[in-house]
Amino acid sequence: MMSLKMIDQPLRKSLIDWYDKEKRDLPWRRTNDPWLILLSEVILQQTQVSRGIGYWEKISNRFPTPKSLAKADQEELLTLWQGAGYYARARRLHALAVQVSKPSKEGGFDGSIPESIEQLLELPGIGAYTAAAVASIAFDLPVGVVDGNVRRVASRQTGNSSPTQDSVGMWANSMLISGRPGDSNQAMMELGAVICKPKAPKCELCPIASNCEGKENPLAYPTPTKRKKSIENLDAAVLLDSVGRPRLLRRDPSERFGGMWGPPMCDIMTDSLTPVGEIVHHLTHRELRVKVWSGQCSKGTDPTTVPISNLDRKILEIAGVM
Ligand code: ADE
Repeated sequence: MMSLKMIDQPLRKSLIDWYDKEKRDLPWRRTNDPWLILLSEVILQQTQVSRGIGYWEKISNRFPTPKSLAKADQEELLTLWQGAGYYARARRLHALAVQVSKPSKEGGFDGSIPESIEQLLELPGIGAYTAAAVASIAFDLPVGVVDGNVRRVASRQTGNSSPTQDSVGMWANSMLISGRPGDSNQAMMELGAVICKPKAPKCELCPIASNCEGKENPLAYPTPTKRKKSIENLDAAVLLDSVGRPRLLRRDPSERFGGMWGPPMCDIMTDSLTPVGEIVHHLTHRELRVKVWSGQCSKGTDPTTVPISNLDRKILEIAGVM
């Protein structure tokens, strides 16, 4: 494997000095509670910082400890998670809280977040990225994180347009400032988020531009790995009862939007239903095209009492509910 060219100590220092001066004031940066840091990193796996702040505040207020979440129903967390998408994250976070809340003689951690990478990696929903982020930010362990931002910075800095995951991991490890691994990692992610941006990088403000191999043509790094989205056609039946409440089902945990509620999808008798429109909804690797039908049922559910995904909300809206 080709390894990526390392950055020397003075520039690593410039990066962390820049971070100390310019970092965004984000609420999870004001705590050193490992649970609250873990919560922020799970949210930030797939939600932008600007949208993630409100979710983090709501969820950390309601569930300030793993035990408080372990005692609650998964559905209560899904309700707070509504609108953020990728609901499997919420289901796994609940499972993680249950697991760490067990006594240590039953394989748990008595309600605290374990401190080693190996133990973190065994928890539900925790992959290499989240384990490294939590270990470095909450526990000061020297492990570099690799996310999309870090990969882009590494690619541009080293002029390597398609670096492997492993080579970026080694490069990220080599970028850590001793004694401050969490801030070093956050400085790199911050640089990727606010300066070394995908489309409009601000190279003139970059604290490590002098070393950058990609700055003449930053948009060439890294090479985009575009996959064409597959299209999935679905039908949704919005069946209303006599007072206008829709029939809602709790989606099976093994399905998309598992644990969330919504109208029945597919396999419907079109002759008793009226078409009301179509919704196109984009997921990461898929485009969903949902034909929406309306009809009647004997007894519906009040949609304000259950967690509903954004797609299902749009389906209900187009059928005149909500
Ligand atoms: N993205 C994910 N985690 C982050 C963090 N801790 N700081 C900045 N950006 C992030």
